[in-house]
Amino acid sequence: MTLTPQKIVLLGESGVGKSSIAIRYFYNKFNSSIEATIGATFINQTVQVSTDYEVRLQIWDTAGQERYHSLTLMYFRGAKGVIIVFDVTNQASFRKAKKWFEEILLKGLENSKVVLVGNKIDCQTSDRKVEKSKAEEYAKENGIMYCETSAKTGEGVKEMFFNLAKELPTH
Ligand code: GTP
Ligand code: MG
Repeated sequence: MTLTPQKIVLLGESGVGKSSIAIRYFYNKFNSSIEATIGATFINQTVQVSTDYEVRLQIWDTAGQERYHSLTLMYFRGAKGVIIVFDVTNQASFRKAKKWFEEILLKGLENSKVVLVGNKIDCQTSDRKVEKSKAEEYAKENGIMYCETSAKTGEGVKEMFFNLAKELPTH
């Protein structure tokens, strides 16, 4: 069964790796000198959730820079899935992720699934600033999912999209 594309939006501070996650997922590539996103772009990807059920995703990669904030918020409209990304080596990006969650919560999340993503887990353990347990606790308190990824190595990326896709409403 193929359904109409479900809108997914990637949110989070500039530099956390939203575009890198999208590029890893779509092209299975990584570029360490990628440029900051301007506005937003989207990719379409189909996820095989089970043998007889697939979900088409339209994944919007937004710009994290502050000057695009209100524009980015517009891309949230109609999103069935929201991926809020932070960088596990950057505490400020985790605070920003929580602010994003609070902001979209005010807009209404009745029809959306949210996943919080800690990216850059390939970085050295000594560089890690946000403990997995802290992020998990926040996600649990707020009834959202938590996943960890590395766009650089690809670890956890497919699983994250798969976990989100299988939670999306079927109609
Ligand atoms: P904006 O478009 O400005 O909102 O940023 P973004 O969230 O799209 O970040 P982007 O994907 O451009 O990545 C920012 C920087 O982090 C780049 O230098 C990437 O190569 C690097 N990066 C992204 N993901 C990872 C990762 O998983 N591990 C490591 N080590 N670096 C990463
Ligand atoms: Mg980007």
